[in-house]
This record gives sequence, C-alpha cells and structure tokens, in this order.
Amino acid sequence: MSVQTGDEADHVYIFDTTLRDGEQCPGATMTHDEKLEVAELLDNMGVDIIEAGFPAPENQDDFHSVQEIGKRAVSAVVCALTSAKPAHIDSAAAAIKFARRGRIHTFISTSPDHMKLKLQMSPEEVFAMVVSSVQRARNLCGDVEWSAEDATRTEIDFLCRCVEAAIKAGATTINLPDTLGYATPEDYYAMFKTVRERVPNSDKVRFSVHCHDDLDMSTANSLAGVRAGARQIECTVNGIGERAGNASLESVVMAMRVRQDVLAFWTGIESTMLTRASKLVSAVTSFPVQYNKAIVGRNAFAHESGIHQDGMIKGRLYEIMTPESVGASTKSLVMGKHSGSRAMRLKLGELGYQVGDNELADIMVRFKALAARKKEVYDEDIEALVNEEIAAAHDRIKLHRLKTATDTSGEKPWADISLMIDGEQVDGFADTENGVVDAIFDAIRVAIPNDAKLELYQVHMIEAESQSKAQAEVHIRLSIDGRSVSAKVADPDTLVASAKSYLSALSKLLGKGLVVWP
Ligand code: KIV
Ligand code: ZN
Repeated sequence: MSVQTGDEADHVYIFDTTLRDGEQCPGATMTHDEKLEVAELLDNMGVDIIEAGFPAPENQDDFHSVQEIGKRAVSAVVCALTSAKPAHIDSAAAAIKFARRGRIHTFISTSPDHMKLKLQMSPEEVFAMVVSSVQRARNLCGDVEWSAEDATRTEIDFLCRCVEAAIKAGATTINLPDTLGYATPEDYYAMFKTVRERVPNSDKVRFSVHCHDDLDMSTANSLAGVRAGARQIECTVNGIGERAGNASLESVVMAMRVRQDVLAFWTGIESTMLTRASKLVSAVTSFPVQYNKAIVGRNAFAHESGIHQDGMIKGRLYEIMTPESVGASTKSLVMGKHSGSRAMRLKLGELGYQVGDNELADIMVRFKALAARKKEVYDEDIEALVNEEIAAAHDRIKLHRLKTATDTSGEKPWADISLMIDGEQVDGFADTENGVVDAIFDAIRVAIPNDAKLELYQVHMIEAESQSKAQAEVHIRLSIDGRSVSAKVADPDTLVASAKSYLSALSKLLGKGLVVWP
C-alpha cells in the first residue's frame, strides 16, 4: 500500500475528469461499460471526486453513465457537469440522484471574449446567471462546484465579484480554470492569491485548479495553484483532454510525493495503481501513451546508456522514485508457450493489470494461440493482448473469416470477409484499385452498411528482437457526424489486425447509436 495521510489543511483533493474533459477530446470516446470500468478503478485508487460526464437532457449516453457510476461508486463523490441553463442543472441533479455522495458542477464563461462572442451576454447578465445557476444547483444538491470558464483571461475585479456571489449563492467549491492553457505558474499563483485575499467569504469554500496543457505547463500551473491555497486538483489519467489535454493525474500526485520537501501536501491516491489506471485508460480510449511520458510512459524507468546502467547497478543513482511506487513492471517473468494461467496472473500483476477469472481464461486462449504462432511472447505482446481483451469485451462485431488477394500484374486487390454481429453471420466482398486494406474496409461496409469516415489508419510494429517475431498494431479512428471513436488491435498479420481494428471501432459506433444494426 502506498497511500499518504497528514493534516487536513495540507490535503489536496483529487478530482478526476477523465470521463468528462478527457472523453471530450476527439477519438477518446468510451462505451458505457468502459466508463464503468474506469470509474471503478478510479474509486478503488482513492480519487476523491469523479466527474462522470455532462448529462444534459440531449446527452442521454452521459446521463445513463453518470447515473450508473453514481449508483456504484463506493467512496468517491460522483460529479455531474452542467452549463448554467436551468434544464441542464435539473438534468445533472437527476443524474446523480442515486449517488451515495453527489456533486453538481456548474460553469459559465467570465472572460470578455467568451461573454461577448460565445455567450452574447453582457457581464451583468452573466453575473445574474452565476447567482441563479448556483442557487438552483444548491437547492437540488448540498455539494455544488462553480467554475469560471476561462478564469485566467477574466478581468480580476469581475472574477472576484462572481466568486463572491457564487459563494453567497451556495457554492462549496470554486474552480478557476486555465481553460486555454495560457497561464504561466506565476500568473496562476497570483490569480489564486488575489482572489483568496480579496473575496471576503473565500474561507468558506475549497478552491480548485483546472489546467490545460497547451503550453505544456499544466502540472506546474496546478501545483502553483495549490501553493497559493487551492486544495483540489482537476486532472485526467494520462493527461487526456481537449486539445493538448489536461494536467495528468499521475504527474501531480507523484510531484507532491517525491518533492514533499517543497510541496508538503498529500493526496489519498494509492500510487501503486497509477500504471494500471494509465493502461486501462489507454486501452479503452485507444490513445497510446507517449513512450517518454513522465511516470507512466514505458521509458519512464528505462536506463539505456552504459553510464546510467552502471549508476543504477551501483545504487539506483538515476532514480528519483521507484517503478514499484507507481506500480510499474520490473519485468522478471518470461512467458512462453508452456506458461500456465498462474504464471499469466503473476505476469499481469507485474504489468499492472488485475483481471477476473473469466477474463484470465479468455486471455489464456488468445495467449496460447499467439504463442503457437509466434514462438516468443514479449511483455508488449501481452499488454497488447490484454488491452484488446478489455477493449473487445464489449464489441458486438467479431471477425469470423478473412480472405484477401493482391496482384501487381493487373487484377484488382480484393477481400472476402465474414463477420459475426450479435451472433449472426454476415458476409461482404469488395475489390478496389486502392489496395487490399481498402478492399477489406469496403468489404466490411458491404457486410454492415455505414457512413463512417476513416480518419486515421496507423500501423506500428510491437517491438521484438526480429521482424519475423513482431506483431503489427493497427490504430484506427472512425467518425460520423463529427463524433469519432478509436480502436487499436495487434496481430502477427497486418491485414487481420487492420480488419479487427476497424471492426472494434465500428462496434463503438454501434454502441453509441451512430451506426444502426440491423
Ligand atoms: O476547461 C474548462 O474551463 C472546463 C470547465 C468546464 C471546468 O473544462
Ligand atoms: Zn477543461
């Protein structure tokens, strides 16, 4: 166990918005079941508040997931985001009605440009709406957070007036976001300090930071806000989120742990679960984690150069935290085709995964098939396999059979595909001059007609000692009506990986009701 405790005055509450701000970024859409899985892990990991979605009346998907997460969360507060519109606030309240501890989070923009151009409202109209929205939310829920969207580009006098009014109207948390990722740590520190000093009732609430990463300063800014008195950090696993993303949960948590000497704050996060959380979020969103990402990237604890390796052997001289403290693998067990499920469970534990018995049995079937085809199975292969298992657990479409051919002497490349959808077999055939991958995708569209647009097709080799031992990992993004989903599937055969990845993304579109079957 690696959970901290300390004085309440130094307690920094972790507000995770992976399922709301994180899910908002293009391609990171999660299915209902995936959101439940992520929420369960966040709750177990010690996240204090889970922002589960934006359950506006026109967003029934989010409504149902916020409601279900509220019913299931054991210790975390479950929070619903809402605009300042009365109907939206009422819907947010309805979504968290069954939560053991619920929160309504209402926001409105307060910066001059946003008020004038986005809201087309005068500052006085916005001010009135701050009061009425917070009052309405507070009548429906005892825990209300108010956010001044684009706070860092808001005139300070107006910001202080709005904050004071929101507190009087019943807000219990005040969030001052750096919505555009524009602030420097000095700006952000100064804003919190001024607001806390100038607003007479500021001691009645908890202040919160919410930083975007457009200039790569979201972690530094979040910590600057904490040093200026904020005691809640809004962040996401792997830093996913709008544009360049939000502050990474793992970075802010570990910065406060490792640098206790200058950041003497604590959180309730079980840090050994950080790697597992990162892998789960990467698997369900199909967003790869940058290799050199702090804390959770695969190179975060790797030592390549001779000098560094020597230093590590002599006394871990190039390490400021241990891989174990964040649940990263120390890669001791080698897996081969004779390995059984006990070894697999241990290996998965090392890699940061905890799976149930049924999931383990499914993984073993796929592992044996892979080991039979691929002689040596690397940690990266196992990670790909588990990620797929997690992502595919809810896929409605499965690949049944695929036949393809390509011929440089004139005949058009073609694909003949057979799929299972909800247990029913459907077939498709297509040929095209554009190559065999296009033929596969066309054949899928013949079998399951849909208007999905292919936005991204990326192939990457999963590292192995030689090309013949490598697997191809295919990352696909499909979109319909501006809403996009991603999938990532690995297979020793690039064409099979392409077909499976396309089908996995199509399953997500089906799950969102953007493709209809039958
Ligand atoms: O970035 C932002 O301002 C937000 C608010 C809705 C809190 O995400
Ligand atoms: Zn945001």
